[in-house]
Amino acid sequence: MRGTIQTGFGEPRDVLRVDEVPAPEIDDDGVLVRVRAASIHIGAVYGVRGLPKVMRPMFKSFIAKSGVIGQNIAGVVESVGANVTGVAVGDEVFGSCKGAFAEYAATTPDALAPKPANLTFEQASAVGVSAFTALQALRTHGQLREGQHVLVTGASGGVGTFAVQIAKATGAEVTGVCSTRNLDLVRSIGADHVIDYTQQDFTTGDPAYALILDNVGAHPLKDMRRVLTPDGLLLANGAPAPTGWVGGLGHPLKVTVASLFSRQQGRPFLSMENEEDLATLRELAETGKITPVIDRVFPLDDAVEAIAYVGAGHNRGTSVITM
Ligand SMILES: NC(=O)c1ccc[n+]([C@@H]2O[C@H](COP(=O)([O-])OP(=O)(O)OC[C@H]3O[C@@H](n4cnc5c(N)ncnc54)[C@H](OP(=O)(O)O)[C@@H]3O)[C@@H](O)[C@H]2O)c1
Repeated sequence: MRGTIQTGFGEPRDVLRVDEVPAPEIDDDGVLVRVRAASIHIGAVYGVRGLPKVMRPMFKSFIAKSGVIGQNIAGVVESVGANVTGVAVGDEVFGSCKGAFAEYAATTPDALAPKPANLTFEQASAVGVSAFTALQALRTHGQLREGQHVLVTGASGGVGTFAVQIAKATGAEVTGVCSTRNLDLVRSIGADHVIDYTQQDFTTGDPAYALILDNVGAHPLKDMRRVLTPDGLLLANGAPAPTGWVGGLGHPLKVTVASLFSRQQGRPFLSMENEEDLATLRELAETGKITPVIDRVFPLDDAVEAIAYVGAGHNRGTSVITM
């Protein structure tokens, strides 16, 4: 089969290539999926670059045995192991695996759910890391409630486009921060208010937000405090692009330390993919509460360019590779 393999750490065009690789094998508990689409999130690019370097052992653990990278897929079940129940050959599914950017990927049944009938394979593959991150940020860590006002930075990106929609589905008032070219997009997915960061610094307004989901990391907590309500929470999800051994990890650490001295809390969090939240996201998609925003779609042969594109950091929603 053809797959996108990583040969070292570096820029995508230097260390990735699309080539013939052995198809993955499954054991009695495994599921083999004929991949129709796989989505790319910015974390996958950090894994290719191997930055920050301290995280390289973790990045390596995400690479399939064949060297193929990628995490989020949608496709059709090709075969199942003897012990597998609830998933059958021919089922249309979406979920996570190792080695997504290839024609076939092996995974386990708990990492898959039936593809929402109203989503294309491209859209279903986009309901991956970014969607889990948005859901867990707002629901689990932010405990966002109906009527609260939430501000989402990076509202046009992979995480942000899910966060705006999930916040609206929760009944919150939503302000999205994005660049001029993305104002209409962010409005179209439900933001009540939009702020163009090229024209206006959102930290100069009145205290309004019970929750800020910061997907960018351009402002320290002390600036955010001005616009948080007295017991508001900043979730520091994004940080400046990682560099060197620990570059990029300083921002969430500073936010955590600064919040020790204030009622207004700030903290980072790590999202985790799990079966229960996959089912929740599927339901949100099936009921039309989230519709993945697809940016660019690349054929598998152009996977390296696709990953380099996402690495530039200007995604509008999620970019996808199709097989
Ligand atoms: N906590 C976790 O477990 C977890 C999981 C996933 C991702 N993350 C982090 O979440 C962050 C966002 O990821 P993502 O996948 O959404 O990234 P992305 O898809 O690359 O999107 C970033 C978006 O931010 C916009 N942007 C850039 N500068 C901005 C600014 N100053 N203000 C507002 N918007 C700005 C970009 O558009 P323009 O440049 O056109 O404005 C782009 O649409 C990353 O730092 C990532 O590492 C954390």
